[in-house]
Amino acid sequence: MLKLSVPILPPSPPAHWWGLSHLAAMRPDYLGYVQQLQFQYIDIAHLQILNEHIFHVFNPDWVREILVTQSAALIRWERATEVFSHSMGQSVLVTEGAQWERQRRMLQPGFAPKRVAGYAKLMTDAARTAFSKLVKPKNDPKVDIEALMTGITLDVIMGVLFGNQQVQDSRSVANSIQTLSQFAVSQLFKPLPWPMWTPVPAVLNARRAIKKLNQLIDHHIHAAPEPDQASEQGLLTMLQLTRDPNHPNQGLSDQELHDQIMVTFQAGHETSATALTWWCGLIARHPDVAARIHDEVTKVLQGQDPTPETLAQLPWLQASLKEALRLYPPAALLFNRRACQNIKAGPWTIPKGSLIAITPFVIQRDIRWFDAPDEFRPERFIYSIEIPRGAWMPFGVGPRVCIGQHFALLEMGLIAAMMVQRYRLSWPDDATWPKTNLGVTLRPATPMVLNITPR
Ligand code: HEM
Repeated sequence: MLKLSVPILPPSPPAHWWGLSHLAAMRPDYLGYVQQLQFQYIDIAHLQILNEHIFHVFNPDWVREILVTQSAALIRWERATEVFSHSMGQSVLVTEGAQWERQRRMLQPGFAPKRVAGYAKLMTDAARTAFSKLVKPKNDPKVDIEALMTGITLDVIMGVLFGNQQVQDSRSVANSIQTLSQFAVSQLFKPLPWPMWTPVPAVLNARRAIKKLNQLIDHHIHAAPEPDQASEQGLLTMLQLTRDPNHPNQGLSDQELHDQIMVTFQAGHETSATALTWWCGLIARHPDVAARIHDEVTKVLQGQDPTPETLAQLPWLQASLKEALRLYPPAALLFNRRACQNIKAGPWTIPKGSLIAITPFVIQRDIRWFDAPDEFRPERFIYSIEIPRGAWMPFGVGPRVCIGQHFALLEMGLIAAMMVQRYRLSWPDDATWPKTNLGVTLRPATPMVLNITPR
């Protein structure tokens, strides 16, 4: 009897022009397109674009099976790695294999929960300074929340990396990061990306942005005092002094140090600022939730600054942040992965050489795990309704899970608590809810301008 050796593949939507019609369909609204795939095919869908086979996996158990159990058989999509290496060099976000393992081992202690808790004071100081500058006349309560949050998180990351140095020119630094973010995403969706030597405006702008950030990082690395084991350490000093636990006389090279600082700087503030921006908008739209948070913040903090310990006593605040991260995960899609071996996903086999796409934005809005998935309902994280592991995954899962997740959750919690302590946020009558803009982070497409009144 004839034995079939071709694996049976999961279902695919119809395609034309060798699959290029998929690219045309996804270009105007990538997340909407992937959401439709999930509605139609539920757990997994397969697209072929030219020679590339792409498997979108939506089942949270299968996602864990892939990213946790079979992680050793995956690398990140080469195109993404190349695009991000222009601005992030050979940093932990980009490297693979033994080089990544070594870097991750060396960075991990700097992001451990205990170490991160030591940054809490710096975080609350940055928020207090920003809020104290926010003097609003009574007849103009409108505030651009994204600019406010970006300013705070930039000051936090600068303080954490370099000690208490503030960014002189924070708006233009934030603009450079956003330019790179938009450029990176546009490069990912082109059939052929622009080489970096091409003299077209998009590439020239990206090169200018990279130059600006490189100068900023180099300036601060050189301005920092000599590392001193005994003194109170910023993250830069910690990275300068770090040694590979497996090879105790090996540290990071100068270039690696620069690249890790760059990645921490870029990955470490836009994500948290974006998450806080969406959270503020959602709180402004849901005064009932805001009132509950305000009650518990008032009762627990008694007018004091929040700390890692008191944050743990604020369940509504924590749940509302989790819910904001569910609806608007700043990393709406993970890096696509390349299968270096056949990969098992539930009953299916994803053939070696394929790409695997995992989209938290879509997985986290699956009606099977979240009732009324498009609604903001923090209570789902309070009344322990069964949520499968992996159905809430804003920080990814597996060995390449976000190294900064404890940092981000602490920072977001502290800033959010201080915001609620001081201000009532409300939604302007004439405003419409912003659409999403997919860059490296998922930002509001139009400014999130809210009414803010002191309590
Ligand atoms: C709300 C805030 C944040 C979110 C939602 C977020 C999300 C993520 C996600 C989903 C990944 C994994 C991507 C993948 O598997 O393809 C990741 C990786 C990473 N994140 Fe975050 N992140 C946040 C904040 C931070 C912060 C504050 C830092 C540093 C200070 C940071 C540094 C990194 C780094 C270095 C990686 C790469 C880790 C590796 O590949 O080993 N992130 N982040």
